[in-house]
Amino acid sequence: MRLPPLLTRGCVRRELSLAEIFQLGYYWETKILLTAVRLDVFSALGEREQTVPEIAQQVGADTRALELLLNALVAMKVLTKEGVRYANTGTARTHLVKTSPSYVGHLLLLHDAEWNNWGRLEEAIKTGRSPVSRHVFETNPELGANVLTVLDRIGQQSGPGLAKRLGLEKAKTLLDLGGGAGTNAIAFCTVYPNLTATVFDLPQTLAVTERVVKEAGLEGRISLKPGDFNADPLGGPYDAILMSDILHYQGPEANAAVVRKTFAHLSPGGTLIIKDRFLEESRTGPAWVTAFAVHILVNTEQGRCYTAAEAMDWMKAAGFASIVELERTAVVQGIKQG
Ligand SMILES: C[S@@+](CC[C@H](N)C(=O)[O-])C[C@H]1O[C@@H](n2cnc3c(N)ncnc32)[C@H](O)[C@@H]1O
Repeated sequence: MRLPPLLTRGCVRRELSLAEIFQLGYYWETKILLTAVRLDVFSALGEREQTVPEIAQQVGADTRALELLLNALVAMKVLTKEGVRYANTGTARTHLVKTSPSYVGHLLLLHDAEWNNWGRLEEAIKTGRSPVSRHVFETNPELGANVLTVLDRIGQQSGPGLAKRLGLEKAKTLLDLGGGAGTNAIAFCTVYPNLTATVFDLPQTLAVTERVVKEAGLEGRISLKPGDFNADPLGGPYDAILMSDILHYQGPEANAAVVRKTFAHLSPGGTLIIKDRFLEESRTGPAWVTAFAVHILVNTEQGRCYTAAEAMDWMKAAGFASIVELERTAVVQGIKQG
């Protein structure tokens, strides 16, 4: 049967078939994978091929139930099975075994930790209120810090490109506000040899930052400033301030206030760069961000996904000039006139 086209923003999109709608409704495979990460099945397997009883003994599981989980993981192409022996695929060995330098399980463990919040989505939609009162970096700093190390590894690929595109050759000082593991501060200092950076973040997060900055050999050029950016002074003045992936954790009033605060901490001619997961004006795309906005609804008290125009309005109200959307739905920049 030919499916009727849908017209969205001038693009022809195919509508979903019933089979695809059913497929969307199956979260079974998601929970199978997350449970395997929690049980650390992949580390138990490591480089070896093992039987169900051997794996069950290591992860503390019932053999009959574990076998069902392992078989599903084989069908999902995360494990392989030869006879009665199971093994990790190459991707599982690289990214899901804890001792691997490319381990990403912490991010999946975060998704699992948020499972119960998602179970309260209906309540959140009906009341408009989030089931949580604070975000993960405040409630579970250890998990938050582990997630930052994964984000750091992923961000290492995009940070230098962003730094180059911003053209910050004249800047001597950068404030990376809510800078997390220091991924962007490291990338910016690597691209601009005359730049020194300050990473401002919650004290519990900065323990991770200290380690990552030291590993990059940049402790001489990157300093750490602990604090709450809504309440504490930011130091400075700085030639550039970066806010990367922090505004979606907060409500609009708090964001307008923190943007105003950055204006006061910039030198004349200085620039504020906001990188975030912005929604298109229609708020129906990018697709990943529309789902992320629902994730933010159930997992933060005040957070939201915003449009780039909203962030640019906060900049305008704070006094910034030459405000541009540098990268669609990703980066906006404003200048404090000299
Ligand atoms: C998603 S991470 C983004 C990290 C980094 N900017 C990046 O792009 O990789 C959000 C960061 O904001 C920090 N943060 C959240 N609320 C904060 C606050 N009120 N004051 C300072 N830092 C905060 C968290 O500790 C965390 O490091």
